[in-house]
Amino acid sequence: MTAAPILVTGATGRLGRLIVERLLARGQPVRVYARRPEVAKALFGQRVQMAAGAFENTDALEKALCGVEHLLLLSPISAELASQQIAVADRAVAAGVKRIVKISGSNWTIGTGGRSISGDAHAAIETHLQSLAIPSVSLRPNAWMQVSLANTIRRVLAHQPILAANADAGIGYIDARDIADLAAQQLSAETVSGPVLDLSGPASVTPHRIAALLSERIGRPVPITPPPAFSASSDFEHRAIGEFAALIAEGRAAYTTPTISDLLGHSPRSVENFISETVTDAALAEG
Ligand SMILES: NC(=O)c1ccc[n+]([C@@H]2O[C@H](COP(=O)([O-])OP(=O)(O)OC[C@H]3O[C@@H](n4cnc5c(N)ncnc54)[C@H](OP(=O)(O)O)[C@@H]3O)[C@@H](O)[C@H]2O)c1
Repeated sequence: MTAAPILVTGATGRLGRLIVERLLARGQPVRVYARRPEVAKALFGQRVQMAAGAFENTDALEKALCGVEHLLLLSPISAELASQQIAVADRAVAAGVKRIVKISGSNWTIGTGGRSISGDAHAAIETHLQSLAIPSVSLRPNAWMQVSLANTIRRVLAHQPILAANADAGIGYIDARDIADLAAQQLSAETVSGPVLDLSGPASVTPHRIAALLSERIGRPVPITPPPAFSASSDFEHRAIGEFAALIAEGRAAYTTPTISDLLGHSPRSVENFISETVTDAALAEG
């Protein structure tokens, strides 16, 4: 634990908000860097220090970094991902920050020889972090249940098929709550356990298996169809997502790692657990 506030970027997003809650539960002072402070205030109220600003706003960022020792670096997939995170990391070092914990891309998107624009951006940031004079750890989570699996569940509840180019290609889905648990631990512990940690859930789960689990829960067959082709001229985020689908279809996401159990001392949450929590009777009635 550090007596200085931990600065959390991306705190209003899907994962950032979970990390903030875990740091607060540990009794850790937290400062959030939010370009929409009203959203952060609705989420966290008076429990955090508020620093308003966007990554592009260097004055606000410098102010936010004052007195901070540990930084959580998180931002969305965009054409600015690498340049923004590298600039934030450099300012953090200049401001005296002593540790950076980064939410990176999935391991299977990094080192693909140019086949993942977001993986290449995360790789460039990781390389930069490792060149700095302070310790850092980059967490590389496999695909999150709360994003791709949640989308699949939403589609199925709306009577649409599961989209998959290869119904036998599994994914070692991870629950975002496990990523947040580990990020909070790496921000609060005496030392970091990386430079890089590769995270997954407990099993690689195929679209066939997800269709079977959902079919059993909702009482009707769940079809699987290939996704529409993506256009190479799409914007950065959509191109990145199209590239993910191609890499997943090759089986590159079909692995698990023991990192969560090894470092947190509990098994990672499972897809079966996520489906039973998400596909409630109320969700079924709405669908
Ligand atoms: N989903 C997956 O399966 C998966 C797997 C591996 C890695 N990842 C990585 O996870 C990251 C995305 O995490 P997420 O889904 O939690 O993100 P998210 O929900 O899209 O949240 C993004 C956060 O960044 C903030 N933000 C965006 N642009 C900003 C700017 N210019 N200045 C200041 N703050 C800004 C947003 O603030 P606002 O609320 O104001 O928009 C929000 O708090 C990406 O780097 C991705 O590569 C995702």
